[in-house]
Amino acid sequence: MTKILDGKALSTSIMKKLKSAVAQQKRLITLAVVQVGDDPASTVYIRNKHKACEAVGIRSLHIHLDGEITSGSLLDTIHTLNSRKDVDGILVQLPLPYGIDEGEVIRAIDPAKDVDGFHPVNVGRMMLADDCLLPCTPAGIIELLKSNGIEINGKECVVVGRSNIVGKPVAQLLLQEHGTVTQCHSRTRNLAEVCRRADILVVAVGIAHLINADFVKPGAVVIDVGIHRTSDNKLCGDVDFDSVKDKVSAITPVPGGVGPMTIAMLMQNCVKAGHRGS
Ligand code: GUN
Repeated sequence: MTKILDGKALSTSIMKKLKSAVAQQKRLITLAVVQVGDDPASTVYIRNKHKACEAVGIRSLHIHLDGEITSGSLLDTIHTLNSRKDVDGILVQLPLPYGIDEGEVIRAIDPAKDVDGFHPVNVGRMMLADDCLLPCTPAGIIELLKSNGIEINGKECVVVGRSNIVGKPVAQLLLQEHGTVTQCHSRTRNLAEVCRRADILVVAVGIAHLINADFVKPGAVVIDVGIHRTSDNKLCGDVDFDSVKDKVSAITPVPGGVGPMTIAMLMQNCVKAGHRGS
């Protein structure tokens, strides 16, 4: 029987625990979410982040800036949030409009408030396995594997995708859990053959249904980070779920797999940043 890795249920239970931790605090924890422009997908993601904050008891501020804003004004906004004692976490929703240097914006965020874990200081600490704010999707994937009793130690882990947000950091975290990690990307030759090595296959490439049964070893664990809308308005991942589901031992659904775990880890980072600030 294939196990469906229920990220929604785990996320709900993590957020319940966080809610009790937050309720014990004397100080209110505050997350500031900065949105630039009106990208519809970003608006949906941000709404979900605000809802999660409400569920956990974290105050959330929505700083919605015009899409035509200059880099200078955006950086000023971030500097102001950095210096505000009542703001514990800062998240700038990506992607930013064309012409704004995302790297410069991320580097402007105080690393202690960087609840996305994207600042070079947090990335460097993660590489050294030092205490830091971890990027939310990679941390959520590790949590989902561990909570389902899936051993990483010694396993063949194949990551498809090399983004700064997911591919690179999840490979690093799997390595820290003693996995044997192979990182694949658009130039990888014989992708299906490499993927078939995997005991644990993590797919974060942003191509709907790229991975079918031909890419998976019988009994593998498959983690699907992709999220796409099909022509009939349903959500689907980078993995063709119906094609692989009877071949694998465990798989994340889309929706309800990795997505809710990202939100739970964001809430965890906000609580962590809040503790540091108090
Ligand atoms: N856009 C897509 N995913 C993310 C994320 O995890 N954080 C931010 N800030 N923007 C995103």
